[in-house]
Amino acid sequence: MAVQPIRLFGDPILRTKAIEVVDFDAELRRLVQDLTDTMLDAPGAGLAAPQLGVGLRVFTWHVEGELGHLVNPVLDLSDETQDGDEGCLSIPGLSIDCRRAHSVVARGFDMYGEPVTIEGSELLARALQHETDHLDGILFVDRLTPELRKQAMKQIRESEWFGLDGAPTVKVSPHPTNGLAI
Ligand code: NI
Repeated sequence: MAVQPIRLFGDPILRTKAIEVVDFDAELRRLVQDLTDTMLDAPGAGLAAPQLGVGLRVFTWHVEGELGHLVNPVLDLSDETQDGDEGCLSIPGLSIDCRRAHSVVARGFDMYGEPVTIEGSELLARALQHETDHLDGILFVDRLTPELRKQAMKQIRESEWFGLDGAPTVKVSPHPTNGLAI
């Protein structure tokens, strides 16, 4: 069991495009194990490598009792859409209606380098889209309607975790320095 800390909104790695996996080695299998353990511990329906600070195109999911992982995913989306609440382990406490394709065919590889195809609809399709977005530096708040996005950003700014991820809190001096502080 190797539960790792989950990176939160504001961490630059969540906005960085992850790179294709080339080596299907023991390190990759350890990454899939860490993703799985951390996702199940959270608990969450999916977790992508950048959320653990690793810029590789890998994610895991756990939907309706089915556990899976996918490496270097390529998605085919249905024209039919679904609406429903969506959240993200990197944005704790936020759950907002987000439109997604209803069904997805995801092609990629397993951790041994074998080609796999995953077909999913509804929640699994939502998870596959959400996690693939993570690999492109896209967060679900980017997929919201402008009005809901505004609400989401307000809620994020007001979250107690926001701005506390890793970096020390910068306290503002009560004594104005007129921009002369160094
Ligand atoms: Ni997420």
